[in-house]
Amino acid sequence: MIDETFQAWRLDDVRQTLVLAARRTRLPEVVYWGPPLPAEEDLATLFHAHALDVTGGMLDENPDLSICPEASRTFPGQPGLIIRSEGGTPLLPKFCYDRADQTDDTLTLRYKDADLGLHYAAQFKTDPDTRVITCKATLDTDAPVHLHWMAAPVMPGPQLSDEMIDVAGRWTGEFQLNRTAWSPGMRYRENRTGRTGHEHFPGLIVPCRGATNTLGQAYAFHYGWSGGHKMIAEELPDGRRQIQFGHAARMEVNAATHFSSASLYITFSDDGLNGCAVAFQRHLRDRIVTPANDRPRPVHYNCWEAVYFDHKLDVLKDIATRAADLGAERFVLDDGWFGQRDDDTTSLSDWEVDPRKYPDGLGPLIDHVHAAGMSFGIWFEPEMINPDSNLHRAHPDWALGSEDQTLGRQQKALNMGLPEVRDFVYDRMAAILSEYPIDYIKWDHNRVLPAPDADQTRGSYALIDRLRADFPAVEIESCASGGGRIDFGILKRTQRVWLSDSNDALERLKMQHNAALFLPMSVTGSHVGPRRCHTSGRVLDISFRAWVAAQRHMGFEMDPRELDPREEAVLREVTSWWKHNRDWLIPADILRLDSADPAVIAEQQMARDHSRFVVFAGKAGTSTQIAPRPLRLTRLEPDARYRVTLVNRNNIAPPALSRGNPILKERSIEVSGTWLMTQGLTLPWSFPETMWVLEGEKL
Ligand code: GLA
Repeated sequence: MIDETFQAWRLDDVRQTLVLAARRTRLPEVVYWGPPLPAEEDLATLFHAHALDVTGGMLDENPDLSICPEASRTFPGQPGLIIRSEGGTPLLPKFCYDRADQTDDTLTLRYKDADLGLHYAAQFKTDPDTRVITCKATLDTDAPVHLHWMAAPVMPGPQLSDEMIDVAGRWTGEFQLNRTAWSPGMRYRENRTGRTGHEHFPGLIVPCRGATNTLGQAYAFHYGWSGGHKMIAEELPDGRRQIQFGHAARMEVNAATHFSSASLYITFSDDGLNGCAVAFQRHLRDRIVTPANDRPRPVHYNCWEAVYFDHKLDVLKDIATRAADLGAERFVLDDGWFGQRDDDTTSLSDWEVDPRKYPDGLGPLIDHVHAAGMSFGIWFEPEMINPDSNLHRAHPDWALGSEDQTLGRQQKALNMGLPEVRDFVYDRMAAILSEYPIDYIKWDHNRVLPAPDADQTRGSYALIDRLRADFPAVEIESCASGGGRIDFGILKRTQRVWLSDSNDALERLKMQHNAALFLPMSVTGSHVGPRRCHTSGRVLDISFRAWVAAQRHMGFEMDPRELDPREEAVLREVTSWWKHNRDWLIPADILRLDSADPAVIAEQQMARDHSRFVVFAGKAGTSTQIAPRPLRLTRLEPDARYRVTLVNRNNIAPPALSRGNPILKERSIEVSGTWLMTQGLTLPWSFPETMWVLEGEKL
């Protein structure tokens, strides 16, 4: 819609409307983002009604909080674009409308600054099924410029919101949620490690006042880029709020004439944080990830915590036989098979099978794994090089960073911006993938970069893309010391993430629950670890370990030789339950429940056709009160009846301390959706570090 004083555009899916409006030829502001507006809503009125009053002590007009706020218009906060000429002079763009193109699902707005020779475009793409809007900004320039900062299209933050939720973490402690109160000024998070990072997951949720997992309004954001991002959530002096996401500042090392933000994925929900979570889960699973095959997700066995670098063929064969017998369907040979890799000081980049450990190559192990009915996967850390490696001796200049840099795990990163480096790594990996029947790569990235550099990320993407094009049947898992490279950019090219190096089921329970705000089950690897966890020292029962792994893409990582007969039996039973249910569980929505007991972390995985669900209620600590508090379910049909069964009443050894007879201990119940969502389920008493699993079926 265009007239002389303003222009406006609207985007709709079934859950949200986004309205952009601009005065005259200026950049537009988001003047509405929320529940669907009536088709006949008058955008002219919305535009005029959106304007703020002017009072004392301020300019005579409020600077626009546009999709790319301009410093040249005295915008009082972080501008959307910071650039300099090639010679270093700051450039202050003042964009003017050029053209708009709109199709059913995509709006592209183009602006230019003719004096400075700058062309800015913003794109918004809706998705009617997933309800995620994908936004992107690009800048083209007539002469090369230095880019300091470019935000993906800038969104307003709701003002009826007291806090924002973002995600921090560390090695073995990924996906920790932070709640920060809004206040004047900015919350600025920037990841300068050159990879997505454990520390600053590129996501943000802004709940409106009163929102919980299952109720209320929330806005959510995810920046799909693996090179490190910057986020700004800022409250301006006038009270307006803006949210910016982009690459970490100054990541573009050279002056250039074309720049692009990564995709910013945004969604509005009016049914709690779960509305955002489900949108992201579905969008990632159904739109971003490109599966390598249509087989069901296989149960993994990964040998890392069983043998580390100590690869002995007979031991690995024995382990493989046992893993298959327990239900594993894919065997992943972790670090230690190449070069002279007896510990982590050496051999990264020498991707040739170690003849000391495998005198006849990997063939005998792979044949054994296949004979046991499993497929075979292998570990690489393609972007890395140890100074103690043949490649480093031949090409020290291929390593990124200075000679006196601090190493990380005794290693440097390769300069992935160099085509000859990418070709070398490609050739070595392709040789292994061509020689052996391998259907899976665990792709690791265990150190941060000396400095953020967008060429490095683009180089990694190019290498993965080339390998995927040439070996389309090979699936890839993104690992970076656990969850250090998880984002929708890497997941365009990979099919699974190693959420954490922690196989401690208690830690995992929490991490998985939080990660579900962004990640579906299909991509989230989760393994049953050793009885005594290697990263926490905690000893946890097999039932808890197995059920926590069964909440996501299940696997094992302990040495199966340590299992006693009861542990074997429980693991076999849970694995078989998982296989039996995976066809509907993998595409299911993970719904975080509002647990009345803070000691209980509970989620409900809901089939896409709503015909069934499973509830995992994990007891992460000791409750304050004596008796379990009722657990309310969500998103059921109020009038439908459901049969609810406590699946694992037999394999949590019922402690003598649960002496009563709650009905679920004995048999299934048949109840209405209303009762389940209002009164909720009363579970039997249980120890901390146990998990109740309930199946529900719509009758
Ligand atoms: C990283 C990974 C682990 C394992 C080791 C191997 O730490 O996160 O799972 O693969 O590397 O060195």
